[in-house]
Amino acid sequence: MYWEKELEILERKNLQKLQVERLMKTMRQAANAPYYGRVPEIRAFLDSGMTSIEQIRELPFTSKEDLRQDFPWGFLSTDKRDVVRLHSSSGTTGNPTVVYHNRHDLDSWANLMARSLFAAGVRDTDVFQNICGYGLFTGGLGFQYGVEKLGCLSIPAGAGNSPRQIKLMRDFGTTVAHAIPSYLGRLLDVFREEGFDPRRDTKLHTLVIGAEPHTEEHRRRIEEMFGVKAYNSFGLSEMNGPGVAFECTEQNGLHVWEDAYVVEIIDPQTLQPVADGEIGELVMTTLDRQAMPVIRYRTRDLTRFLPGECRCGRTHRRLDRISGRSDDMFIVKGCNVFPMQIEGVLMKLPEVGDDYRILLDTIDDQDEMIVEVEVKKEWFRGDLAFLDRLQRHITRLIRDEVLVRPLIKLVEPGSIPKAEGKAVRVIDQRKN
Ligand code: COA
Ligand code: AMP
Ligand code: ZN
Repeated sequence: MYWEKELEILERKNLQKLQVERLMKTMRQAANAPYYGRVPEIRAFLDSGMTSIEQIRELPFTSKEDLRQDFPWGFLSTDKRDVVRLHSSSGTTGNPTVVYHNRHDLDSWANLMARSLFAAGVRDTDVFQNICGYGLFTGGLGFQYGVEKLGCLSIPAGAGNSPRQIKLMRDFGTTVAHAIPSYLGRLLDVFREEGFDPRRDTKLHTLVIGAEPHTEEHRRRIEEMFGVKAYNSFGLSEMNGPGVAFECTEQNGLHVWEDAYVVEIIDPQTLQPVADGEIGELVMTTLDRQAMPVIRYRTRDLTRFLPGECRCGRTHRRLDRISGRSDDMFIVKGCNVFPMQIEGVLMKLPEVGDDYRILLDTIDDQDEMIVEVEVKKEWFRGDLAFLDRLQRHITRLIRDEVLVRPLIKLVEPGSIPKAEGKAVRVIDQRKN
């Protein structure tokens, strides 16, 4: 029933006591990092101690900007020799964000992943196919080590090549797969093109879906299309990656592992805690990380705590599915994109005019990012070969920046409708 019973059903009072102990330890470790070493509130707690986990509110927030500014070593809390892996966000224009792990951190992360998968009913008898980007994406190696810890037969399939995904599923009898929800429509199309029906022609019983926002209706549709149970998985690189919060077999919200994280929900404007059960921005603190603890990280994800206890018996609170962001980041094909990254690429090009617009759409069941780019009058002449070269050049530059290939539409100056006031840069017409 449980992977780590003592921790998963710990009485809340004891869970909070454990959090205080672990937070003190985390602050001691964090104080070794150049950035946190400069934070007086951490010093003060290390001198005076902490009696209640609510006191965490006296510590300052950490933002993505802070992580970027102190790039690359400002948050490292241990000797470099101790570090065995890093994960990093995309982007070539500014500093990416980077997260370091030592052996302890990787083991703790794998354990949280195994615990999460176990809660969703995955067992060592399962064959697990991870249809997710490896490399610097945390969904690849993050799931991989958790699945191995759990003892499943793992298939590190990676993203892309849908016919091969289907062949792997059929050859090795995949029973559980992890993929982002928006890709599964495309995968189903390929199943049909090849004359297969996943309900009839595979052994799939579970899909783990996450890494991007989706609705309850979308989940139900996926369950129906594939004949499986689908479980929501939430995480972010700054907090390891997947394995932060996960649905149990009750499918009623995501248990967030409170022995490993302190979770707060704040009003993004006032920065004060919202009333229990109200939607706000998720703020998280690591409790079991050594190489790079992160304290009060503003995730920018909007969600709320769900009320009541879960029938599974786990005492760790449940988060509602993510309902939006308090910044302008969007996710396409599992890749995070900030409009400023696109703007940064475009505005460096002398041929590009003042305006651009990002349209997100679903074409043939696959999400696409279309970027309309105004070209200056002097360049927008009848020279089709030149425009073709420019289009390919912009495609490659944006692809290198955000890791997704955009569809570039070059347009005449003045043809992008001007919005009143602040320019509307992103129009999301995706089906889900
Ligand atoms: N997961 C798995 N496969 C995906 C995918 C996704 N999120 N998005 C697209 N694909 C597939 C496409 O279906 C296509 O394969 P097919 O033609 O055999 O069906 C192939 O990848 C390339 O698709 P394309 O649209 O040309 O992609 P792109 O060049 O714009 O983007 C990807 C390249 C897909 C490799 C990149 O978007 C990626 O790595 N996405 C996965 C990110 C991820 O795993 N995120 C989770 C992090 S925890
Ligand atoms: P990354 O740091 O690249 O791992 O991306 C993390 C971000 O992906 C989160 O901050 C969320 O915005 C988004 N995300 C991850 N999992 C989910 C999920 N299950 N539902 C909605 N959004 C998610
Ligand atoms: Zn539960």
